[in-house]
Amino acid sequence: MATQTLTIEQRLENAKAALTKADQSQVLKFIDELTDEQKDQLLGQIESVDWVEVTRLVQSHVLNTPEFKKPDSIEPAPYLPRIPTKDLADQYKQAKKHGEKLLRDGKVAAFTVAGGQGTRLGWNGPKGSYPATAIRKIPLFCCFAEFIRKAEQKFNTTIPWYIMTSPINDAATRAFFEEHGNFGLRPDNIMIFPQGMMPAFDAKTGKALLESPDTLAMAPNGHGGSIKALYTSGAVADMKERGIEQLSYVQVDNPLVKVIDPLFIGLHAQANAEMSSKALPKAYAKEKVGVFCKVDGKTTVIEYTNLPDELAEKVDDKGELVYKGGSIAIHVIATDFIERINTQEGGFALPYNRADKKVAVWDEANNVTIKPEVANAVKLETFVFDALPMCSESVILETDRIEEFSPIKNADEEGALDCPATCKQGQTERAARWLQTAGVIIPRKEDGTVDAVIELSHIKAIDPEDLKDLDLPTEIDAGTEVLI
Ligand code: UTP
Repeated sequence: MATQTLTIEQRLENAKAALTKADQSQVLKFIDELTDEQKDQLLGQIESVDWVEVTRLVQSHVLNTPEFKKPDSIEPAPYLPRIPTKDLADQYKQAKKHGEKLLRDGKVAAFTVAGGQGTRLGWNGPKGSYPATAIRKIPLFCCFAEFIRKAEQKFNTTIPWYIMTSPINDAATRAFFEEHGNFGLRPDNIMIFPQGMMPAFDAKTGKALLESPDTLAMAPNGHGGSIKALYTSGAVADMKERGIEQLSYVQVDNPLVKVIDPLFIGLHAQANAEMSSKALPKAYAKEKVGVFCKVDGKTTVIEYTNLPDELAEKVDDKGELVYKGGSIAIHVIATDFIERINTQEGGFALPYNRADKKVAVWDEANNVTIKPEVANAVKLETFVFDALPMCSESVILETDRIEEFSPIKNADEEGALDCPATCKQGQTERAARWLQTAGVIIPRKEDGTVDAVIELSHIKAIDPEDLKDLDLPTEIDAGTEVLI
């Protein structure tokens, strides 16, 4: 019988049965004190959880930490170089042309995962609303919208934009888009949909936590949740209707990312790949990034915590790291692939990962929700790159930090990395690189870094080649702020 047709009492009986089996009855502790409306809200949350799966995951991931089993067959995954070697030059030229054609034919959409909670940054609002650019301080969402608008104009096309939120920030994200007139994009080309959630568990007892008497403490189920949510939300059906074949996947926190990259899209499509990735060569052996490997012949990202030291540190006869390609969450995904794995017999499941986090919980003695000072809970998350081994074909293309990677993860503080200050510097360095290629003289400090703050708006250029149409200064003065 459908849940809507059951009475609150019947739903409560069902919830009790499922929770008793899962040894999680504590979430109903305050049920007798709740109004019908509150009961409905708590039962709705309980009904959204697979408690059989939870029972298994609490044992494997909360009360214990899953052990990584080194695969029998593991080797580094090869990747294509950022700058093509002579023998690849023609392939790159053809691939870029092909990517541009797919764009012109309206077969490419942009996809941003923005369902994370951004706890490290500590911004009060969806992370996409964070004022990110070096001079104008435009929000991350606006930065991506400008990129899309420029790409639409450049390729005379429409690029639909799919955005994954979570039930926690969905309403705020929609309101932000509305408030800003969808950043100049047509609203019917933007689709915002929420991802799935998982309860948070007490790290010591494995019990699901309550945030208040009528609310389970729940968290988004990781960016891997996008593979399912794209399908269940109807986004894939919408893409099929529009004739979208390829989805350009980016994260919300990296304003340098090429939201649309014709070369990458073309290399992926020409190889008939199902999901492809960009790789950033590791700066040093133990850098904290997942590494692209081939496990039993399948492209797989192995987390730095799991990659054995002897592999992480292995060098070839030129002294180069062998396991070098770091994963930075930039992908192209074929629409057909998302549909295929969501509709295949037996479905699909991405593995869960354990994250120890601070989660606000209900303090019964003081009748208040408290935010802990230290991590008290375990959140369970899936990662999108764990879909890679399910692909028949997968391409990896190298990029570099200056060109495309300066995420905002942490708040600004002395010595912080991946924070607004390092991102501002990153934006300046890339703008300077592009401007220098176009002949502009760039002031530099003794250590080689740029002695100015430069913001190059995406509405003006999304690729160095776009600079040729612009009226550029011949030189940038040291110590100045320059907006182009
Ligand atoms: P992060 O792993 O940096 O997590 O997400 P976060 O939640 O944003 O930040 P912290 O860890 O709480 O500080 C990387 C990207 O994946 C998205 C984020 O929005 C970001 O674009 N993401 C993450 C989701 O869409 N859903 C999730 O459940 C987790």
